Amino acid sequence: MAMKRVAASALRAFTSSGDSTSSLVTRHLHASPGSKKIVGVFYDAKEYAAKNPNFLGCTENALGIRQWLESQGHQYIVTSDKEGPYCELEKHIPDLHVLITTPFHPAYVTAERIKKAKNLQLLLTAGIGSDHVDLKAAADAGLTVAEVTGSNVVSVAEDELMRILILVRNFVPGHHQVITGDWNVAGIAYRAYDLEGKTVGTVGAGRIGRLLLQRLKPFNCNLLYHDRLKMDPELENQIGAKFEEDLDKMLPKCDIIVINMPLTEKTRGMFNKDRIAKLKKGVLIVNNARAAIMDTQAVVDGCSSGQIGGYSGDVWNPQPAPKDHPWRYMPNQAMTPHISGTTIDAQIRYAAGVKDMLDRYFKGEDFPPQHYIVKDGELASQYR
Ligand SMILES: NC(=O)c1ccc[n+]([C@@H]2O[C@H](COP(=O)([O-])OP(=O)(O)OC[C@H]3O[C@@H](n4cnc5c(N)ncnc54)[C@H](O)[C@@H]3O)[C@@H](O)[C@H]2O)c1
Repeated sequence: MAMKRVAASALRAFTSSGDSTSSLVTRHLHASPGSKKIVGVFYDAKEYAAKNPNFLGCTENALGIRQWLESQGHQYIVTSDKEGPYCELEKHIPDLHVLITTPFHPAYVTAERIKKAKNLQLLLTAGIGSDHVDLKAAADAGLTVAEVTGSNVVSVAEDELMRILILVRNFVPGHHQVITGDWNVAGIAYRAYDLEGKTVGTVGAGRIGRLLLQRLKPFNCNLLYHDRLKMDPELENQIGAKFEEDLDKMLPKCDIIVINMPLTEKTRGMFNKDRIAKLKKGVLIVNNARAAIMDTQAVVDGCSSGQIGGYSGDVWNPQPAPKDHPWRYMPNQAMTPHISGTTIDAQIRYAAGVKDMLDRYFKGEDFPPQHYIVKDGELASQYR
């Protein structure tokens, strides 16, 4: 349907310039001529917006592309109001051409919204992870979905290393003691360990997983990884991690498990009650990938029983997490809001990546191939 829309607008672009050769109508000619309506959904920064000129990822600073877009005659609407039938986003769904979303404050792009968005051609993710979009519905409608692959992988890998250390050292209760006026060394020390010598397994060893493994190497851990794809032997050797083809054989060996794979139909609910029961008792889990890879209640039960010794991450289902989300109240957690991939450095990179893709879209050029999540009705291979 929307594929036809794009093709029709591309055809108009050619016929209006006097060339009616239908074979020239290709999918990579994204943009039809004229002004576009572009909508961005970001988090509000309020009093923090003016505190840093590079704080680009918020509604107030809108990726720093407002002037650039408006000077070319495009309309740029930005909002954080994304939920429910009367929200600001919903008002623009029927006539927007491009929707920019971010995983940090995800606008859930459902099949229903896609159906209503008759002019929509392009969905851009300012960051990495486009699971807030119904990718199958987007593919069926002929939309292009792209993200800024690689933009915040260092930011996330560094954050994961921090979370591993926070859990291993039992840092959070110690910090809490300081705030509440307590002093109880024993209450921390009875389960604080060194990272050295522990077995760390990453489930997913793509861009973030590999950067994490590289950062862990100097800690002298036993490093394992599971992925759909084995690394080439030279890289594997350099990183010093062992490939585990069978996930269920790797997991019980791990003192620390880090999740580094996208949320797909294959990974949704991967860590359910049964799988968690088979992990080493007291295992530490870091998950900055996506919350729905875990069964929410199984994590709560695992943390409560001690089967999971500590759980830390920045991803929740849904986002923002409601006040009564059970992960806020479970014991042994070191959770934060979704922050790891939105450092100022990451924002500069993903804002530049979005601008580059918009520029290419206006010129009818292709994006860097690794950015595509949905193209020509097909999902990227790991999402299939
Ligand atoms: N918290 C944050 O701020 C933040 C920021 C960036 C990315 N992320 C999340 O991290 C994920 C990973 O990011 P990345 O840049 O490393 O992606 P990537 O595509 O480079 O790596 C993902 C890896 O997962 C593997 N994989 C996918 N499905 C699998 C399966 N079913 N079984 C085994 N392996 C599988 C792939 O082969 C790949 O190696 C993203 O998809 C996103 O959800 C979170």
